Amino acid sequence: VVEADLLILGASEVVTCRGPSRGIAAADLGRLEVIQDGAVAIKDGRILAVGPKSEVEAEYRAGFRIDAEGRLVSPGLVDPHSHLLFGGDRCAEYEEKILGRVVGANLERGIAVTIKATRAASDRFLVEQALRDLDVALSHGTTTLEAKTGYGLDRESELRLLQLTVGLEHAVEVVPTFLGAHVLPEDYVGRREAYVQLLIDMMPEVATLAEYCDVSCDPSCFTAEECLRMGEVARRHGMGIRVHADQTGDAGGAALAARLRAASADHLDYASVEGLRAMADAGTVAVFLPAVTLHLMEMTPPITDGEIGSAQKPFMPLAVRRAIEAGTVVALSTDYNPGSAPTPSMQIVMQLAARLYRLTYAQIWHMCTLNAAASVGRGHDRGSLAPGKRADLVIWTEPNHRRIINRFGYNMVDQVLIEGRTMVRGGRPVEAKHRRAMA
Ligand code: NIG
Ligand code: FE
Repeated sequence: VVEADLLILGASEVVTCRGPSRGIAAADLGRLEVIQDGAVAIKDGRILAVGPKSEVEAEYRAGFRIDAEGRLVSPGLVDPHSHLLFGGDRCAEYEEKILGRVVGANLERGIAVTIKATRAASDRFLVEQALRDLDVALSHGTTTLEAKTGYGLDRESELRLLQLTVGLEHAVEVVPTFLGAHVLPEDYVGRREAYVQLLIDMMPEVATLAEYCDVSCDPSCFTAEECLRMGEVARRHGMGIRVHADQTGDAGGAALAARLRAASADHLDYASVEGLRAMADAGTVAVFLPAVTLHLMEMTPPITDGEIGSAQKPFMPLAVRRAIEAGTVVALSTDYNPGSAPTPSMQIVMQLAARLYRLTYAQIWHMCTLNAAASVGRGHDRGSLAPGKRADLVIWTEPNHRRIINRFGYNMVDQVLIEGRTMVRGGRPVEAKHRRAMA
């Protein structure tokens, strides 16, 4: 009998999400391993064993035991795309959209509002808001989260956001990304080249803080050529690459991401099939963002002066299917930000993905765990319940994995463990434990 630190017993289902560390694609996507009456053994914050209760109990013993009481146990959710630090909100702009007075994304205009508010916000405000948002993400099941800058868009403001992001002390591991190339800031209109050069000149310093560099390759942001130049410099300084790709039109973002061997290309609403195939070959994960599809109301028609218009993107389920059929590893994310996706909950993302993209429950579980972990370079370390991996897991209030997606709109998390330590109980962060440096 092997000595463990902790045994989790009595789970009606353990969903492992096991697969290769690069992520699960093609026919394997949605072939979900579900262990009935399962158990997990944990030691030193790592998973020792996962299997049927009878087997785990026969081989391992531990001083601590958690009874899952006939409910679902799953890996912690991974959110691979968020804009965590920002000031202000975009409520006013949103009501205009509800009323059908603004149609379309109006990306640059909205982002400019948030840039202004972010520059004006204090360090303390930004950090405390981020910690509260991380609390919400954690209590809804997220255990690792990627966070981008991108609401500073000048040298000083971007470095400030990056430093604050790196300094966040929270149980949820935050993966820092530099998104200086979010949109062309207003003060550089007519001087694109100067802004691209500014970002290129910042790369050596940025690389000491950020794990990834993100570039927006979109008709309303930067061209594939500009993104290639910035991405190559970022790469040379040791950063991984992510791409906001083809959200408002096909700017060649998917192919660009593949060419840069990017870790992920996200949005992809208008990505070409050739671009998606190139991504599959390059190992670039395709990240789709159902909260954006919902919140920008892209699949429902606007009503203007009593007239029903037409939905902007009724094709989104096909866009996702094309990515799957091209053989790319597909993941899902919140895109948490005040404009296009004001929710930090991966749980609602799972629920929206079924309804808006017509994916199966099993596909969605893979996309929000191992595939999302793979897209932030952590597929070898987390995202599934398998021996040797970090013991990041969720004990849900429900007896099976289908119910987490079939039901919607309220929190179904009971407990969250990170590295084998309970960080959430009864759907709420355990006081003081989850904010590491908040003494
Ligand atoms: O990821 N280039 C894309 N930008 C954001 C929009 C953020 C905002 O509206 O503030 C996105 O959806
Ligand atoms: Fe984004």
